[in-house]
Amino acid sequence: MQIVRTIPDLRAALAARPGRPAFVPTMGNLHDGHIALVRQARPLGDTLVASIFVNRLQFLPHEDFDSYPRTWDADCARLEAAGCDIVFAPREGDLYPEPQTFKVQPDAQLADILEGHFRPGFFTGVCTVVMKLFSAVFFASGGGTAVFGKKDYQQLMVIRRMVEQFALPVTIVAGETERAADGLALSSRNGYLDVDERAAAVQLSQALRALAQATLAPGAAPPAALEQQALELLAQQGWAPDYLTVRRREDLQVPQGSVSSGTLVALGAARLGRTRLIDNLEF
Ligand code: PAF
Repeated sequence: MQIVRTIPDLRAALAARPGRPAFVPTMGNLHDGHIALVRQARPLGDTLVASIFVNRLQFLPHEDFDSYPRTWDADCARLEAAGCDIVFAPREGDLYPEPQTFKVQPDAQLADILEGHFRPGFFTGVCTVVMKLFSAVFFASGGGTAVFGKKDYQQLMVIRRMVEQFALPVTIVAGETERAADGLALSSRNGYLDVDERAAAVQLSQALRALAQATLAPGAAPPAALEQQALELLAQQGWAPDYLTVRRREDLQVPQGSVSSGTLVALGAARLGRTRLIDNLEF
C-alpha cells in the first residue's frame, strides 16, 4: 500500500496505474463502518484510494477539530488489510497551501437545514474539501467512483447534488450504516462516550425507530406533534436533542399530505454529555 501526501504525488501515482480509481474519503479513526465502505469500493475501481484528512473547514471554532482522534498506524493497518492500494493523507499545508478562499457553497434549501442549521458552514467545508479531493483523485483517470456512508445521510445527498450540478465525472455510491450489536450506529465520535453514555447511546436510534413507526401508524398525529413527543422523550432520557424529524428521502423536505412508507427518512442529532451523535432510518 502506497502512502501519498501531496496532490501532485497522488496524481502521478494514479497516472502510473491503469483504469479508474474507486475512492473512500475519511477523516481517519477508522472503524468497521469505514472498512465496510472500503470493502464495498474495492470492486468498483481498478485502484482503491482512501483519504485520511481531518478537514478544519468543516468544524466550527467550538467543535472538536483539535481533539478529533488521530489513529494513523491503526488506520493504515486496517486499510491495508481491506485491500486499499493508496492512502492519500495530505498534511494541512498540502491540501490548503494558502487559505482556501474559493469555496463550494451548496444550495441553502438542502444544506442550511438539519445539520447545516446546527453547524453553519459545515456543508460548505465538506463540499470544498470533497471537490478538492475529487480533483486530486480523479484527475489522471478523468473520473471514477466514490463511496459515502448513509450514516451521514444529508452529506451523501449534498455530495450527490454537487456532483450533478458541476457535472463531475464521479459516480457516487451509498454504503449502508454499520451498527453495533445493540443498534448504535458506528461513528468515530462514539469513542468520546463513557461507559454509562455508551449504554444509553442506542436510545437515539430507538427514538428514530419509534418516530418512524408512529408516523406510519393509522390515524397518526400530525408529524410536528410526533416529532415534539420524540424530542421530549429523548430529553427526559438525558439527551440534548438538536432535531428528530421525518423528511422525504428525495430532497429532505417536510412531507406534505399523506405519507407513504418507502419514501421517508427519520433523521436525528442529539448530544449525550459532551458527545454529539447523528443517526437516521429510512422507512
Ligand atoms: O464524512 C467524513 O468523514 C467527512 O465529512 C469527509 C467526507 C471525509 C470530508 O471531510
